[in-house]
Amino acid sequence: MPSITVDGKTIPARPGQMIIQACHDAGIDVPHYCYHPGLSIVASCRICLVEVEGIPKLVPACQTPIRDGMVVHVTSSKAIANQKQVMEYLLVNHPLDCPVCDQAGECLLQDYSYQYGRAQSRFEEDKHKKPKKDIGLHVLLYNDRCIMCTRCVRFTREVSGQSELMVQGRGHKEEIDIFPGKPLDNKLSGNVVDLCPVGALLDKDFLFQQRVWLLKSTPSISPADAGGENIYLHWNENRIYRVKPRYNAEINKWWISDDTRYSYKAVHADNRLVQPVMKVMGAPSRVSFNEAADHADASLRKIVKERGQGSLYAVLSPMMACEEAYLLGTYIRSLDPQALLVMGPTPRSEDEVFKHYLSGEETFRIQGEKVPNRKGVERIMQSLGGATATWERFVVSPAKPGGWIVGGYLSNWATVRGELPDALRDGFRVVQDTLSSELSERADVVLPSAFWAEKEGCWENFAGKLQAFAKAINPPGQARAEGDVYVRLLGRRGRYVAQDIRNELGEPFASVTVPLPEHEAPAPAVEFAEI
Ligand code: SF4
Ligand code: FES
Repeated sequence: MPSITVDGKTIPARPGQMIIQACHDAGIDVPHYCYHPGLSIVASCRICLVEVEGIPKLVPACQTPIRDGMVVHVTSSKAIANQKQVMEYLLVNHPLDCPVCDQAGECLLQDYSYQYGRAQSRFEEDKHKKPKKDIGLHVLLYNDRCIMCTRCVRFTREVSGQSELMVQGRGHKEEIDIFPGKPLDNKLSGNVVDLCPVGALLDKDFLFQQRVWLLKSTPSISPADAGGENIYLHWNENRIYRVKPRYNAEINKWWISDDTRYSYKAVHADNRLVQPVMKVMGAPSRVSFNEAADHADASLRKIVKERGQGSLYAVLSPMMACEEAYLLGTYIRSLDPQALLVMGPTPRSEDEVFKHYLSGEETFRIQGEKVPNRKGVERIMQSLGGATATWERFVVSPAKPGGWIVGGYLSNWATVRGELPDALRDGFRVVQDTLSSELSERADVVLPSAFWAEKEGCWENFAGKLQAFAKAINPPGQARAEGDVYVRLLGRRGRYVAQDIRNELGEPFASVTVPLPEHEAPAPAVEFAEI
């Protein structure tokens, strides 16, 4: 394996790698703006220039391939002098509006300005002002903050493949723009906000919502479809403010779909179920969670006693964690060994495929199966054995005397063409769901449950990859994670701990672990602390 020496330290490098990649792999920081590992290399910003022994001029680290034995200086006086000059040039027309910029705190311009910038500006002329633009459904462009790195333009060509963004004009009049009448509205559009190294491209949804240093980060998985995109949930004071991609070379690389990005909206929806309800003499009445759960348990037991085995069913939702599906299946079979396990509905559409604008090579695919865990729940149902049914078969069969129905979908799910299916119209129904619906209104017992961001567990994606997600925030009101309810009803000790259930399930679940956190959330600086 070749090696290079960077600032006196010898590091390994792979043949064909650029200097910046070898440095980043070895944990050596080289300042960069236009370079992004997921995009083509243009070497236009020039902040990454380094000194290489034997080459008279500085060379771009992002575009110079390594050579075995190469000696590189990233922090030599010549390289630092260049970084300072590039910073001075980039800041000539920059508005320096960090106090009101959403990117402040995670802006490369701010970071490098702190490291390499001059304390005073030598620029005495008026700054060239460029307009703000609404360029698409989710994205705003603050053109005067742009440093023309063209990451966003390359993304729309090389990943989303629809080339909505372009560079318009030349010299100091150069700016990013869309083609007239063609907004940036593809399903990967939010990624340009993550890509932009400064605060020029902003997410309308996050605009002025939070200062980024107040946000905590929790590793999670997308609930939007079966792709299993890896994400971070960014939250503060029990509210999620944004979803960011988490790099996974096999699944989503650096990108996520807009469906994933805005999936958290359901968590804070106005129609969240927050109050347990049970029908007393036919009238719904508000009760404590334990009262409602105990009533559900006693009623289902009574039904089996009176009507015999095979009178219960449980609808296992493909939004449930595998661990929860296992616990609910175990619980319902403990009441009625012949209970029917039903796979909840799986909404589907066509896969959406994105291709490189020139090569036509597939760059990203949004799965058409719009639930995260059909495969995992099916795996659990198979392992539990006994009577099972698909949703399609279940909804056309006669209603059973008693059932436990789990939802947890990101939108209303239980109706078929606007109507509740016959199988859910009658009998004693315990509904454990997150959003209110016709089904929850008709239920005999309503147990408000938790979205994925409010609990822990694992999901299996379309390709059979099991991935764990961690709990970020608490469920609202009296809502409770499904796992906690089943653990209690099964008479087990303690609370629901996903890793313990995975260990109980054995392989392949036992080796699934929660990913490491993005960073330990730093305490807010005193001058920015919330009052
Ligand atoms: S808008 Fe952002 S990503 Fe696009 S060129 Fe400007 S600085 Fe780069
Ligand atoms: S990162 Fe190398 S020139 Fe921009």
